[in-house]
Amino acid sequence: MTKQELQALLNDLSIEEKIGEISQTVGSYFIKDVEGALTDHKYSDEHLALMGSTFNVGDPELINRIQKKHIENHPHHIPMMFMGDICHGFSTIFPVALAQGCSFDPELVKKVAKLTAMESSVCGIHINYAPAADVSRDARWGRAVESYGEDVYLNCRMAEASVKGYQNDDLDKEGTMGACFKHFAGYGAVEAGREYGVVDVSERSLRQDYLPPYKAACDAGAVMAMAAFNAISGVPCNGSQYLLQKILRDEWKWDGAVISDWGSLNFLRCHGITHQYPEMAEIGVKSRMAIEMCSQCYWNGMKTALENGKITMEEIDRLVFDVLNLKNKLGLFENPYRFADPEKLKEVKDLPSTRAEAQKMVCESSVLLKNDGILPLENKGQKIAFVGPYVDNDDILGYCVIGGIDRPNAQTVKSALEERFEKNNFVYADDCKMFGNEDQRLVEFLELQDEMMNDADREAAIAKAVEAVRDCDTVVMLIGEHRKMGGELAARTEITVPEIQMELFRRVSRVNDNIVTVLFNQRPMDIVEISEKSKALLDVWFPGTMGAQAIVDMLFGVEAPSGKLTMSFPYTVGQCPIYYNSLPTDHSTEFHDHHATGYIDCPTEPYYPFGYGLTYTDFSYSKVKINQTEMTANETITAEVEVTNTGKRDGYEAVQLYLRDMDASVSRPYKELKGFKKVFIKSGETVKVTFDITVDLLKIYDVNMDYVAEPGEFRVFAGPNCLVSEYETFYLK
Ligand code: BGC
Repeated sequence: MTKQELQALLNDLSIEEKIGEISQTVGSYFIKDVEGALTDHKYSDEHLALMGSTFNVGDPELINRIQKKHIENHPHHIPMMFMGDICHGFSTIFPVALAQGCSFDPELVKKVAKLTAMESSVCGIHINYAPAADVSRDARWGRAVESYGEDVYLNCRMAEASVKGYQNDDLDKEGTMGACFKHFAGYGAVEAGREYGVVDVSERSLRQDYLPPYKAACDAGAVMAMAAFNAISGVPCNGSQYLLQKILRDEWKWDGAVISDWGSLNFLRCHGITHQYPEMAEIGVKSRMAIEMCSQCYWNGMKTALENGKITMEEIDRLVFDVLNLKNKLGLFENPYRFADPEKLKEVKDLPSTRAEAQKMVCESSVLLKNDGILPLENKGQKIAFVGPYVDNDDILGYCVIGGIDRPNAQTVKSALEERFEKNNFVYADDCKMFGNEDQRLVEFLELQDEMMNDADREAAIAKAVEAVRDCDTVVMLIGEHRKMGGELAARTEITVPEIQMELFRRVSRVNDNIVTVLFNQRPMDIVEISEKSKALLDVWFPGTMGAQAIVDMLFGVEAPSGKLTMSFPYTVGQCPIYYNSLPTDHSTEFHDHHATGYIDCPTEPYYPFGYGLTYTDFSYSKVKINQTEMTANETITAEVEVTNTGKRDGYEAVQLYLRDMDASVSRPYKELKGFKKVFIKSGETVKVTFDITVDLLKIYDVNMDYVAEPGEFRVFAGPNCLVSEYETFYLK
C-alpha cells in the first residue's frame, strides 16, 4: 500500500478499531477462539475481534486459521500480526545468546538468525522479540543469558548482526521476519541482578554503556522496539517521552513501532505513577507507545482521555499509523498469510545444513577455560567415566524456547557418545540429580521437584559414582545449572553449581583427579573450586539442539572449542557486578598497596576475564603496530598485530583491539574493546590482523555531555583478551 492508501484506511477506522490495532494479548486467547472454546477471559469479544496482533503461537496451520477468521470478522479486514520470543532458534535451537556472543563471530550470529527466521517465518511468525541488546554486568541477573554480555561494543556488533539476519536486509524476501530489539533501555543494569529490579544509572552511563547496542539495532533496520520494565531516572521506560520520543525519534530518527513489555502500561500503578486507565493511556499515547502488550489501558482508558482533551485524535492516529505501517512493511495487506505454509515447513525444518550451523555455533561459542593437555581425549581403549546429571539429559536447549511446533529433542551426551563410538570402554554414572534438600526453595519456585534427591538416594548415587570412577583413566564431569535457573524470573544470589553436584564433584575428584569438567550454565559462575580441581574445564552454556554431538566432537578433538568470555567470571558472587571496563578510581588496584581499591579477602580482578578462552592450539602475539602516531579527525589509523599459531593444530582465534583514552575530560576505563576479528590460522602460520581506528571509535560523552573525540593521547592494545598489556600510542590533534 502507498502511504496515502494507509492514511485513507486509517481515516476510515472507528475509534474502537484504532484501539484494537494498538492492543495485543497472548495467542492462547485466539487459539481458543478458533477452536471454539473461548470462555472466561478478561477481554471482551469486541476487543479480541479487533486486536491487531498477538504472540507466541507457533503453528502455521493454527496461525492461518486465526488470520482467516480475524480478517473475515474485522470491519476493514485488516490482517493480524503474529509475534514471538524466538531468541535463539525455533525448530533448530542454537546456543543461548550469551553463548553466541562468545563466538566473537557476528557473521555466524547473522547466519543463525537468518536460519531462525527461515524456520519461523514459514510458521507464520512476522516479528521476533529479539535481539535483547541489554548490556549486562551482573552474573546474578537471570536474563544476562538473553543478551551478548558485558561489553557495549560487542553487544552493538551482535545486535546489529542478528537484526540483519532476521530481516535479511529486506522484509520482502522470503524467509524473513521483523526484529524487535529489547528491552529499551538499560534493563541489564538492574541493581544486584534482582529480577524486575531497580535501575539507576547516570545519564552518561546510560548513553555510553547501555544505549549504543539498541541504537545499533535501529541502525541495522530493526522495525520494532520493546520498552523495558524498569524506570530510568525515575521515569518508567514504558511511557518515557525521553526515551521513546526524544532519543528514539528525535535523536536517532528511527521510524519503527514501539511495543510495551508484558502488562507494563498497567504496571505504571506499581511504579506509583497512576491507578487510572485514562492517565495510563495518556502516558502511553504521549510517548508514542504503538502497541500495548497484555494489559487494557488503551481499551479501558483511551476514549475518556480523548473526551477529556488529554490526548488528541492525531496523537492516537500516530500510534495506529505506526502499526499499519509495520503491517505494510511486512507485506500483510497484499498477503496476510505471508510465508506461513505448513507444507513449506516440512521442507525447511531441521535441515542438515541448519543443524550443521548449529553445531558450528556450539563449538564457536563454547569456552575452554582450562586445559593442562588432557583434552582432547582419545578413544583407544581408555576407560573413561562420564559422571553427573548432564550425562543422559536432553534438557539442554536453554531458556527461551517457545512451544507450538513439534521440534526434535536434543540428543543426550550419552546417546551421542554411543552413536559415535561403537567400540568404547566408557562408564556412565548419572544417578545423581540436579538438586538436593538444601535447594528446597529454588526447587519449589521452579517446580523442579522431580530433579531433587532425598539424602539417602543422594548418598547412594554419589557412592556409586565414586566406585565407578576409581579405576578409570579419565573422568568427564557433566554438571551445572538447570535450564530454569537462567532467563526471566531466574535471578540468583549464589552463582555456584548446586551443592549436591559439588559434593559429587568433590568426592569423585578425591579418588580420581584426571577430571575434565563440562559446565552447563546460563550466567558466569563461581567455579574456582571446580577449575582448580579439574585438569580441563569446558563451558558449553546451554548449547541447543546439536549440543550433545558438538560436545562429543570437542571432547574427542574432532572440533575445537573457540569461544571467549563476554562476561567476566568472578571469584565469588561478592564481586558482582564485575566487568573489565569499569572506570579507574584514584586508588591503585595493587593488593599489596594498603590503600588499593578492592577487597581484603578477594582479588579485585575476576577469576576469568573478559575476552579469555583457550582452544586446542596456542597463539603468540606480536606487539601491536600502528601506521602513524598522529591523527586528525578525518584520518584513519591502522593497527596491525601478527598472530602466530604455535601449536600443532589449525585453529580459530578471536583477536581483540582495545583503546584507552589518556586525555579525556571525564574518567575513562583502562581499556575498551573497539574491534575484534575471528581468524583461522593454520599450525605454524602467522597472520597479520589489522584494525581501522577512525575518529568515531574515539568519541565519548565529554564533560558537557557532547559526543566528541577529545584531542590528546590514546593507547592501542591488540591481543587475545582484555589482559593484553603492550601498547602503542598516538595523538589525536
Ligand atoms: C519479557 C519479554 C518478552 C515478553 C513476551 C516479557 O515478560 O520481558 O522479553 O518478549 O514477556 O513474552
